[in-house]
Amino acid sequence: MKALILVGGFGTRLRPLTLSVPKPLVDFANKPMILHQIEALKDVGVTEVILAINYQPEVMINFLKDFESKLDIKITCSRETEPLGTAGPLALARDKLIDGSSEPFFVLNSDVISEYPLLELIQFHKSHGGEATIMVTKVDEPSKYGVVIMDEETGKVERFVEKPKIFVGNKINAGIYLLNPSVLDRIELKPTSIEKEIFPEIAADQKLYAMVLPGFWMDIGQPKDYITGLRLYLDSLRKKSADKLAVGAHIEGNVLVHESAAIGEGCLIGPDVAIGPGSVVESGVRLSRCTVMQGVRIKRHACISSSIIGWHSTVGKWARIEDMSILGEDVHVCDEVYCNGVVVLPHKEIKSSILKPEIVM
Ligand code: GDD
Ligand code: MG
Repeated sequence: MKALILVGGFGTRLRPLTLSVPKPLVDFANKPMILHQIEALKDVGVTEVILAINYQPEVMINFLKDFESKLDIKITCSRETEPLGTAGPLALARDKLIDGSSEPFFVLNSDVISEYPLLELIQFHKSHGGEATIMVTKVDEPSKYGVVIMDEETGKVERFVEKPKIFVGNKINAGIYLLNPSVLDRIELKPTSIEKEIFPEIAADQKLYAMVLPGFWMDIGQPKDYITGLRLYLDSLRKKSADKLAVGAHIEGNVLVHESAAIGEGCLIGPDVAIGPGSVVESGVRLSRCTVMQGVRIKRHACISSSIIGWHSTVGKWARIEDMSILGEDVHVCDEVYCNGVVVLPHKEIKSSILKPEIVM
């Protein structure tokens, strides 16, 4: 089977992290977002992943080359010269996707995280005989998503409404699809939205089906959702493979520590923390609900909560970083400094406290 991952867009909502790498390569739970997806696709027998891309393809391909051999999966690139939206890229990659086969293929948004129940998706798709299946999940705030109105028993989609202004339902498109090759006959090679143009049309032909996604789901393309997503991901890891989580008197709740990271004496870490490769957490540090990326140093007695610390940054002694602070790559926070909701662009030094949410450029 084949899969296409939509990797377009600039990832502006996840700045400053996306100033260093394209959004799909931003680490989530110690692994670039897109690797979570590629591994899940590989697990259900996908042999080729096509990245539909319109921005920095070299960076992506160079990075993923290593993983092609490690994961034994073919990773290719379908490059747009102009952004083709969420459907146009499928028309562009048509030959790669079909390649003489009549099998359905996966399409994924690159910024969603879940347990990827892809086997269940295949089974359901084969059982209903429609043209396309989309995974859906329930959310509290449906207006920023594609809303699906479906028959609860059969899963047949009656209506698909992208980002509705008024409430039409709370089941939303999770950005994980299985499509028959015939769907490609509905898409022209031009900028096209699969959500606004293609899904409503397939639904009107009564050939669009939806499956409620078991387990957690999150679009992690925004800092707040990224932090919530980590909590949900670690909860699910606790249920499925608890041995991957850290244990010890200094650990509270679900914590992921990379094997090459070092943690000093007298720390209290957790809940919902990920500590990346080569990071050093010195003694007496307190971390909760945060991500510490690769090569970071957190100095003695610093305290970090609800924040993301970008690659190779340092946080000084007795510093306090909280409330959705996001440090870009290579940021240095001096000793005793307090950061409250501060977003810092890469390669900056913060010498004095910032008490109110602010962007440091
Ligand atoms: N190749 C390519 N070209 N990819 C694109 C383009 C493009 O022109 N535009 C967007 N994408 C990719 C994005 O990188 C992302 O992976 C995916 O398409 C969806 O775009 P977003 O910008 O993240 O859309 P959204 O989050 O507002 O809404 C979408 O996702 C929701 C779930 O998170 C829609 O699919 C909604 O219906 C859905 O509920
Ligand atoms: Mg998104």
